[in-house]
Amino acid sequence: MKKQNLTISPKSESLAQTFAEYFVQKAKESIQECGRFLTVLSGGGTPLKAYRLLAQEPLKSQVDWQKVHLFWGDERFVPHDDSQSNFYQAKEALLDHVDLPEENLHPMPTHLEPDKAVKNYFQTLDSYTEAGQKQVRFDLVLLGLGDDGHTASLFVGQSALWTNPVVTTEGDYQGRPSTRLTLTPMIINQAREIVFMVSGASKADALANALGVEKDINRFPSQAISGPVRWMVDEDAAGKIND
Ligand code: 6PG
Repeated sequence: MKKQNLTISPKSESLAQTFAEYFVQKAKESIQECGRFLTVLSGGGTPLKAYRLLAQEPLKSQVDWQKVHLFWGDERFVPHDDSQSNFYQAKEALLDHVDLPEENLHPMPTHLEPDKAVKNYFQTLDSYTEAGQKQVRFDLVLLGLGDDGHTASLFVGQSALWTNPVVTTEGDYQGRPSTRLTLTPMIINQAREIVFMVSGASKADALANALGVEKDINRFPSQAISGPVRWMVDEDAAGKIND
C-alpha cells in the first residue's frame, strides 16, 4: 500500500473532518471541470459524522449543492422513511440541511421488487453515462468496511454474485436488514476517486486484512475495489496494519 493513499486521523471526529473537507475539494474540482459532481454515499454509522459536518458551516456553503448528484453504494430493503434505511440516515444527517434539488437525489428504489429494483437503478445510473463511456464514471465513491470485511453490500464468500453493475445480496451483519441492493466492483471501479472511511478498534482486523499481502476478494471483499483508492482511517482502526 502506497503511504500517500492512507491517511490516519487521531480520532473519529478528525477522520470525519478529513473526509468532509475532501468531499468539498472534490465537489469544487468536479463542478469546475464538468459542471456537476456525481458522488456515491456509503451507508453505515461511520460516515454520519462527516455528513453532519457537510450540513453545517463553514463547509456547507462551500459546495454548490445545485450541481451535486447523490447516489448510494448499497441499500437495505426497507422503505426510505425507515430509520434503518441508508437513504433515511443520510437524509437526516445531510440532505434535510442543504439546498439539493429533489431530482439530483438517486436513492436505491427499495419500494420495487428486488429484480425490478436492480433494473431500475441500472437505468438511473446509465442515464448519467457520458458520451464515449460505456457506463457512468462517478467523481467520488465513499465506502465503509464492516468488522467482517464486507464493503457496500459485497459480503464475504459472495464474489461469484458480482456479475452485474447492480445486484441484490443477502448478508447478516449486526442485526441490520439482510436483503440488500448493492453496486459491484464492475461499476465502482470506474470511479475517478474511491474513499474507504474506517473507524474504531472493531475494524482493526478487517482493515489489516484488506491492506495485507494475502489477496483474496472472496474473503476480503474490499480487495475487489481497485483504481484510485484512498483509505481514510482513525488510529483505532489502524492498530493492526503492518508497516
Ligand atoms: C450498510 C453499508 C455497509 C457499511 C459497513 C460499515 O448498509 O450497512 O453500506 O457496507 O458501510 O457495514 O458500517 P459501519 O460504518 O456502521 O461500521
